[in-house]
Amino acid sequence: MAASPETAGADAAGIAGFDLMALPQDFVPEAYRYFAALRRASPVHRNSDGSFALSRYDDLVSVYRDPATWSSDKKLEFKPKFGASPLYEHHTTSLVFRDPPDHTRIRKLFQHAFTRKALAALEPGIHALVDHYLDRFEDRGEMDVVSDFSFKLPIDVVCRMLGVPASDAGIIHDWALLILGGLEPVLSDAQLRAGCRAVEDFKAYLRDRIKERKANPDGGREGEILSALMNAQEEGDKLTELELLHQCIFLLNAGHETATNMISHGVHEMLRHPDQLAKLRADPGLTESAVEEILRYQSPIQINNRRATRDTELSGVSLPAGALVHLLVGAANRDPAQFPEPDRFDIARRPNRHLAFGLGIHICAGNALARLEGGIAFEKLLTRFPTLRLAAPAKLTNRIRFREVSELKVAL
Ligand code: HEM
Repeated sequence: MAASPETAGADAAGIAGFDLMALPQDFVPEAYRYFAALRRASPVHRNSDGSFALSRYDDLVSVYRDPATWSSDKKLEFKPKFGASPLYEHHTTSLVFRDPPDHTRIRKLFQHAFTRKALAALEPGIHALVDHYLDRFEDRGEMDVVSDFSFKLPIDVVCRMLGVPASDAGIIHDWALLILGGLEPVLSDAQLRAGCRAVEDFKAYLRDRIKERKANPDGGREGEILSALMNAQEEGDKLTELELLHQCIFLLNAGHETATNMISHGVHEMLRHPDQLAKLRADPGLTESAVEEILRYQSPIQINNRRATRDTELSGVSLPAGALVHLLVGAANRDPAQFPEPDRFDIARRPNRHLAFGLGIHICAGNALARLEGGIAFEKLLTRFPTLRLAAPAKLTNRIRFREVSELKVAL
């Protein structure tokens, strides 16, 4: 294992000039060292734009659990960044960036789409998809886990779940990248234009799918979300057409890139830790806790944001009303105050109350689906290819909000 982040790399003295708005070149490969230094020396760290980076587990929990003090609404932040544009409309309408009472209303309507029954209806399809992808590698010596497997499976699953054809997965993935790309801290004019075009194209596409479903209401699969959301109504509450479109776009975006990275990181960490791989092979009953450890160790979403609605305090630091905070999920999930030996990858770790899915009212609505998908993917991949090993070092993308593996070549 590399030198402990608690003792090496960016030290306490060096962290004073750290700025989330202008990250050092080595940030992505060394993220956990920077996080450790932040946690120790500057857990409520002021960035050059006046925002704060939070790195301690307890501070993140306090923020997630107090939505009255910590708003998820992004209008203030997004107006100057996006103007009155389709990207602004999308990101300020989707569930994750709304506060109560709107959040409560939409989340309640969402529950219809995320029932146990809906998940159970999806499970056989996930098994079949994993088998389908792995079958193609039975006679081959090598694969890139990202492009051949982890990139393809989640988008197919989320298309099935929503009720749009899997043959459209490619174009949906392209739109998703352009729309989510808009959430990176710094955005070029070209990225803004491409993101806006993607929102408009995506809306037009969904309007067509909704028209088709209305014309053929019985054509949907059991538990399909598009129908569930179209019909979602409770005690007089319902989704407006614009809300419906943006929740569908958000679901398609939220559900695949995250899961892709969970699977890629999972395979990578298992192969980097042969003792843990052997343990899992010997006891497949550990699959569930292995998925949790992967989510903790390499959280696919590394940053969530909130804004203070009043003057408040965290770790003894005063924060004024209006302060924007970056919740460094990857830092909190390696906090030694919560996780003994946090840099040790331990698939049997218990308890493992990681924050990879957030917490509180916005906790990931798709967490059960993601966990199910991860479990099936790891179990089948590792059973199917008993001599799986790394063929080349994995490549990480230079992104900050999403921790992304771009290439993972393995020998089968
Ligand atoms: C490993 C995969 C995933 C990870 C790491 C993940 C992570 C997260 C996180 C951290 C949040 C909370 C954001 C915040 O509090 O600001 C969230 C929210 C959400 N996620 Fe996921 N997610 C994953 C997969 C999925 C899937 C598969 C779906 C559905 C298809 C999904 C749907 C949602 C929705 C609808 C919300 C918004 C919940 C709300 O605001 O009430 N996610 N996710």
